[in-house]
Amino acid sequence: MKKHEIVEKNVGLMALLMVIAVSIGGLVQIVPLFFQDVTNTPVEGMKPYTALQLEGRDIYIREGCVGCHSQMIRPFRAETERYGHYSVAGESVWDHPFLWGSKRTGPDLARVGGRYSDDWHRAHLYNPRNVVPESKMPAYPWLVENSLDGKDTATKLRVMQQLGVPYSDEDVAGAQAAVKGKTEMDALVAYLQVLGTSLKSKR
Ligand code: HEC
Repeated sequence: MKKHEIVEKNVGLMALLMVIAVSIGGLVQIVPLFFQDVTNTPVEGMKPYTALQLEGRDIYIREGCVGCHSQMIRPFRAETERYGHYSVAGESVWDHPFLWGSKRTGPDLARVGGRYSDDWHRAHLYNPRNVVPESKMPAYPWLVENSLDGKDTATKLRVMQQLGVPYSDEDVAGAQAAVKGKTEMDALVAYLQVLGTSLKSKR
């Protein structure tokens, strides 16, 4: 019996060999990414999210915005003409978890920071139809009613610090005071307004 026949007639062995083959392919592609500067080094001048922006990011996660909005501009002309410079890995190194997304029911938001005024965002999030009549984005009116107590904000910064985000101990100490009494709307808008700006400011 030829060796190949042994493999073909033994499904368990074939499965094992397939797993080995696929793992080698995966490891060769994935492992180097952990050691390359281009994927590990933050883009020059990037600042960690402020306490308020970080809270806004959590609201973005809670409300499922990532289900309709990607934050990943691909290096294609059709995308860079519309959204700006394509996304680079160095912009996401402090994002835990990253929110690149894969679904675009609405536009990509990777560089939405500064594109609209705060007031525009407030009106839009309160009810998108107020500013974009044909919009099918859901309304988030409760964001103006809920205010933050900042109880967990310092812990959130501390966790980010442990994950390698360069927060100082003063940042952590002042975190609660920085968000207390602000509304969820304030936080979410602060987050949206910083998206993509670290690279944009260099152009
Ligand atoms: C069901 C899908 C859906 C969800 C969920 C959703 N959006 Fe949208 N979003 C859209 C669509 C469609 C548009 C385009 C029409 C418009 O501007 O309202 C849009 C537009 C936007 C824009 C304007 C982008 C631009 O460049 O013009 C922003 C900012 C935005 N959404 C933020 C959010 C945030 C923040 C959340 C979560 C609180 C969210 N969206 C949730 C579908 C969605």
